[in-house]
Amino acid sequence: MKEILILYYSLHGSVKQLAQHLAHGVESVPDMRARVRTVPKVMTESDAPAKRVPDAGAPFASHDDLRECIGLAVGSPTRFGNMAAPMKHFWDGTSGLWMNGDLVDKPACVFTSTASLHGGQEATLMSMMTPLLHHGMVLVGLPYTNPELNQTRSGGTPYGASHWAGPDGRQPITDEERKLAFAQGQRLAEIAKLLAAATRRSTRPSPARGRGAGGEGLAK
Ligand SMILES: Cc1cc2nc3c(=O)[nH]c(=O)nc-3n(C[C@H](O)[C@H](O)[C@H](O)COP(=O)(O)O)c2cc1C
Repeated sequence: MKEILILYYSLHGSVKQLAQHLAHGVESVPDMRARVRTVPKVMTESDAPAKRVPDAGAPFASHDDLRECIGLAVGSPTRFGNMAAPMKHFWDGTSGLWMNGDLVDKPACVFTSTASLHGGQEATLMSMMTPLLHHGMVLVGLPYTNPELNQTRSGGTPYGASHWAGPDGRQPITDEERKLAFAQGQRLAEIAKLLAAATRRSTRPSPARGRGAGGEGLAK
């Protein structure tokens, strides 16, 4: 059984719901399983330290989760048109994986949720793609062969699945948003399965290797 990592941050549950629909899409593909993980809040020095294990729900992601999975879906709420700090903090700790080229050639996709309809879904989705491109991942979007992309009156974009949660965060996920999240998980799993079967992971040295001091000391 091969696994797709669904890695998300969610404070109020909207992104978590999208993650579950992506996971259903992944598991609709034969021999594929979703490994669902989250990331802890970022705490300042004056706050209580972040918990090592969450009280409930998905476990926190480790670097081994990233290494072991053959594809990755990353989800975060929109924060001022960008990914939330806990997700950015998680990626800022992955330079060791980057130096090893551990994620090179693995397919990846992104998803988000916003309070307002035009509050930055696409900007957030693109912001989450940036570290994935630096890691050498192969980005997977949502093609317009999914009819819901033309029908939706809320979330759902060619850059990735999304949800319009409304100002109080209570708008339910619409049929179109759900179908698009499912389709994205399914497409990611199908492409990951094909790539894993057809290609050998790149063994070329990553740009960080051989850079001497520039690449040293970055691994956390
Ligand atoms: C600090 C902060 C910044 C936010 N920035 C935006 C924004 O730029 N655009 C928007 O539409 N919603 C914004 N929101 C709202 C969240 O994106 C929205 O409530 C989202 O659905 C939350 O996802 P969750 O339920 O998974 O936590 C912001 C919320 C917070 C707390």
